[in-house]
Amino acid sequence: MDGQLGHPGPVKPLRLGVADAGEVLTLQRAAYVTEARAHDDWDLPPLLETLDEARAALESCLSWGFREHGRLVASVRLTVSGAVGMVGRLVVAPDRQGQGLGRALLLAAEGLAPPEVTVFRLFTGSKSVGPQAMYRKLGYRETHRTPENNHELVHFEKARVGGA
Ligand SMILES: CC(C)(COP(=O)(O)OP(=O)(O)OC[C@H]1O[C@@H](n2cnc3c(N)ncnc32)[C@H](O)[C@@H]1OP(=O)(O)O)[C@@H](O)C(=O)NCCC(=O)NCCS
Repeated sequence: MDGQLGHPGPVKPLRLGVADAGEVLTLQRAAYVTEARAHDDWDLPPLLETLDEARAALESCLSWGFREHGRLVASVRLTVSGAVGMVGRLVVAPDRQGQGLGRALLLAAEGLAPPEVTVFRLFTGSKSVGPQAMYRKLGYRETHRTPENNHELVHFEKARVGGA
C-alpha cells in the first residue's frame, strides 16, 4: 500500500500507542494552530494537552496514523463506549493538508473500529469550516451545538454502514 493518493510513501494506517505520544503531540500542536487562530482561542484542549495526558489517552483509546518514510503525518483517536465510537483529534501535518490524508484516515478508522461500534460521533469548532465540510462530505450529520468559551462546538453523528 505504498504510493497512494498521488504521493510517495506509505498510506497504510498504523496502530499508534503510548510510545508514539511525543510525535502525536507535536503533530497535534502544529495542526491545531489554524483552529486556534480561527476561534481566537489559544486554550483549545488539543493545544493544552500534556505529554502525560497524551500517553494516557493513547493507552486507553484506539489510535491510528499515517507515516511517510517514518514521519508521522496524520493521526486520529477512537474511544469506544458501547455502540458508540467517539472520533477525536484527527490531525494532518500542515504541509500535507488538503491532499486526502484526513479523509483517508477517518475512513480507515471507521473501518477498523471494533464490530460493536454502530455509530460514530465527533465534534468540531463552529469556525472550523474545513473540518465541518469534510465531515458532511463523509456522511456525518449535525446533531446539536453546545457553547464553548467564545464559540460553539458542532456535534456530528454517522451511522456505521454495513456494520457487523
Ligand atoms: C481537518 C483535517 C484533519 C483535514 O485533513 P486534510 O488531509 O487536510 O483533508 P482532506 O484533504 O482529506 O480533505 C477531505 C475533504 O474535506 C474538505 N476540506 C478539507 N479542508 C477543507 C477546508 N479548509 N475548506 C473546505 N473544505 C475542506 C476537502 O474539500 C475534501 O473534500 P474533497 O476530497 O471532496 O475535495 C486537517 O486539515 C487538519 O489537521 N486540520 C487542523 C486540525 C483540525 O481541525 N482537526 C479536526 C478537528 S475536529
